[in-house]
Amino acid sequence: MDTLVSLCKRRGFVFQSSEIYGGTGSCYDYGPLGVELKQNIKRLLWRDFVQSRADMVGIDASILMHPTVWKASGHLDHFTDPMVDCRECKLRFRADHVDALPWTHYCPATKGNKFTIPAGEPCSHCGARRTLCPDCGKGQLTAPRQFNLMFKTFMGPVEEDASVAYLRPETAQAMFVNFDNVLQSMRLKLPFGIAQAGRSFRNEITPGNFIFRTREFEQMEIEYFVNPRDAVEGRPADEYWHDRWIADCMAWFRRYGLREENLKLREHDRDELSHYSKRTVDIDYRFPIGWSELMGIANRTDFDLKQHSKFSGKSLTYFDEERKEHVVPYVIEPAMGVDRAVLAFMADAYVEEEVRGEKRVVLRFHPELAPVKVAVLPLLKKREEIVRAAHAIRADLAKQWRVVYDDTAAIGRLYRRQDEVGTPYCVTVDVQTVGDSEKGEAGDGKVTIRDRDSMAQVRVPIDALPGVFHDLLGGGAWAQVAARLERQIQK
Ligand code: GAP
Repeated sequence: MDTLVSLCKRRGFVFQSSEIYGGTGSCYDYGPLGVELKQNIKRLLWRDFVQSRADMVGIDASILMHPTVWKASGHLDHFTDPMVDCRECKLRFRADHVDALPWTHYCPATKGNKFTIPAGEPCSHCGARRTLCPDCGKGQLTAPRQFNLMFKTFMGPVEEDASVAYLRPETAQAMFVNFDNVLQSMRLKLPFGIAQAGRSFRNEITPGNFIFRTREFEQMEIEYFVNPRDAVEGRPADEYWHDRWIADCMAWFRRYGLREENLKLREHDRDELSHYSKRTVDIDYRFPIGWSELMGIANRTDFDLKQHSKFSGKSLTYFDEERKEHVVPYVIEPAMGVDRAVLAFMADAYVEEEVRGEKRVVLRFHPELAPVKVAVLPLLKKREEIVRAAHAIRADLAKQWRVVYDDTAAIGRLYRRQDEVGTPYCVTVDVQTVGDSEKGEAGDGKVTIRDRDSMAQVRVPIDALPGVFHDLLGGGAWAQVAARLERQIQK
């Protein structure tokens, strides 16, 4: 994790929020490369799960919703964590996390020497187990109290109970309260889904592990409505679609590069299920901190639509033409954390290898995820024609992709820099490309494309570049595209 955090800062992926003021607790800013990566993830999610499907539509709802939404959804009553406070140092912990922390101990058997003891273990000198604050090792902990994780604010100029509003703790509720608007305006038939990507806020007691658990984060959630009276392949529709979404989400992560051995499904135990859930399955990823939740896929039944109908007094049903009856749809909810996806894709792509006796750091991003698709590099920055040609190539390719120009180091160094941020292809312009007008030598108008992963190179005419990158960035394998180009050159 430390290696990734340092790479993220050094190469402009993620910065600590308000760093010059000492940072804001567990808030992060995405830098120039991080924002590209994150936007690519959201764009691919939207393309693959919304635009390309006939049964999906999207919305973009406001973050501040009517406060009754949170009463109806259960968040006001249930969205709490048990917390304990240290009476001495005033630090706050999640009651259910305290035993999983290493603890500070002033050991009486060693004249009060201070030790940090691994989580759950007793002191090897005096045999004592933790009873006091794990951090300062001195204070008693209070009894657990329930702490609501929603950020409270006030709408309008007066700070009074009547104007209380909450920053949404999940994007999901906007899909439920807009169910009828979307159904009527788009004339949809079950099953169909509504998706939304946007910010959510939770006043987590113990945020941490970089962008894994923060207080402000981005989610992409889908609420997929099914008719509970329908059967698909002999199974109740909600159960069938739940499994379909689990499989589709797993396939999506694999498609963009997460390795099979780093992904697994985790079924929630009965006592772990949220108050609305009939069944929840998490996709867990082997993060640098260990196996943890990347996303959850829940069967929320008809809980939310019924609750909002009850609290708003509005009917939130679907008219089943075949059976001539109104039904309250069941909901399957794939809920992804975009920041956790960023972390997982970075962790999975990170490789250190040895090349000719030197360490090479590579982010082997899938080309569609890579923040920069192509870097155009002049071999000699003192040669004006080379620099001019390289700028022209960048400008032309940048009409379609994120393409950068860099001449701030020697070519070997420039390649390494691009490897480290995951740029799949570099284009090098050299003397042969432009020729030497003083010596009367014409250039061949060709440039070298270098593949990040194999480091293999192929020389192609400048005017072929858009077509070649169309193939490569559109999913074509380097080996095949390069072999085709070699054949064309030999003809
Ligand atoms: N609507 C259901 C829901 O919000 P969740 O499991 O609480 O379910 C869904 O959240 C996903 O959102 C999680 O799997 C995780 O990826 C992400 N997420 C939740 N809390 C987060 C936090 N504090 N920081 C970053 N991501 C978070």
